[in-house]
Amino acid sequence: MQVPFLDLKLQYQRIKGEVEPMILDILEKCCYIGGAYVNDFERQMENYLSAKHVAGCSNGTDALVLGLKSCNIKPGDEVITTPFTFFASAEAISSVGAVPVFVDVRQDDYNIDPDRIEEAITDKTKAIMPVHIFGAPCDMDKIMAIAKKHNLKVIEDAAQAIGAEYKGRKAGTLGDVGCFSFYPTKNLGGAGDGGMVTTNSDALGVIVRAYREHGAAQGGAEALELLEGVKEQIHTKEEVTELYNPYKYYNYLIGYNSRLDAIQAAVLSVKLKYVDEYNRRRSEIAKMYLAGLTGKLRKPAYSDDVKSCWHQFVVRSDYKEELCAYLTENEVGNGSFYTVPLHRQKAFNKYNCKNPGVSQPVAEEISSQSVCLPIFPEMTGEQVQYVIDTVNRFYEGK
Ligand SMILES: Cc1ncc(COP(=O)(O)O)c(C=O)c1O
Repeated sequence: MQVPFLDLKLQYQRIKGEVEPMILDILEKCCYIGGAYVNDFERQMENYLSAKHVAGCSNGTDALVLGLKSCNIKPGDEVITTPFTFFASAEAISSVGAVPVFVDVRQDDYNIDPDRIEEAITDKTKAIMPVHIFGAPCDMDKIMAIAKKHNLKVIEDAAQAIGAEYKGRKAGTLGDVGCFSFYPTKNLGGAGDGGMVTTNSDALGVIVRAYREHGAAQGGAEALELLEGVKEQIHTKEEVTELYNPYKYYNYLIGYNSRLDAIQAAVLSVKLKYVDEYNRRRSEIAKMYLAGLTGKLRKPAYSDDVKSCWHQFVVRSDYKEELCAYLTENEVGNGSFYTVPLHRQKAFNKYNCKNPGVSQPVAEEISSQSVCLPIFPEMTGEQVQYVIDTVNRFYEGK
């Protein structure tokens, strides 16, 4: 039996009938960027997350940059994050000129260890970026309490965590801002790149929207005032003519071009209707894995406070390479995230982070053992059982 690591075609077949007329409508109307599809998707997402503001953007990496910028993270500021994540988490910190400070993760859920955060705080620390890795929310009560005590911002990297919950609240709505990715392989994936920033703060909502569009026009002026207390009074109503609107033609911040396009918004708004169903099926598959896989490998263990959206199912094996080769030989798709923890990445090796090369033993151990098994909503029960049997057969006699 063949079990792919992921099969996006199956998902597309199911939604094709809904998606294609919308894409044709966009092509006919030539409303490629912004407009009704983007606005509708943002409002649907606000409703889904119970978040006050959702701003779509170009991708998850940009969402993190916009999140950091909106929290006024500046060059030289330190931002605490995990070394066991996708490169983009810390890359975003560096790309706004700030310094990532890596704090090791926990054995069971692979997430940043809140009990080790305080020892990394200095007078330069301005924010914490928890990453809900593989779709399982971090220990947010502890993280928020530390942030409050030290007056730090919290930028959640929820790129992998759409629909996941912490104590009944959606991941990405617990910190100051939440940052999501709609990369096609995500639980809610577009037909290309996409992302969004969420916040419950009216001020941060204004600032994120301004940064995503060149800090332009009235939104830019409002954002500048919120960020720097600089009130722009150069434009009076009398200056505005039909042909010339000073607000419209001025830029107030050095921002970005990071808009979500209409085709992505249309695809995402269709898939959003099914995302809970997709996540439920992922959770059923995870339950089968947790019950059926041999105890000779280590499985993820989450607290009862956490409802994972099971973006990935990652086990730990002392025979990582051998197991991956055996799975491939037996036509079971597999992956390995993240083989190189970020403090060992070339880009963070000698510079660009606070503690280059300083050992993060738990992250290193997990990196050397992590094996991702297939988990996607369209997987059949037979396929899940075949994966379990194949893994267990590998372990016979080990
Ligand atoms: C944890 C994490 N952060 C950030 C990103 C960046 O998202 P994107 O690829 O949409 O830029 C990803 C995407 O893979 C991710 O998994």
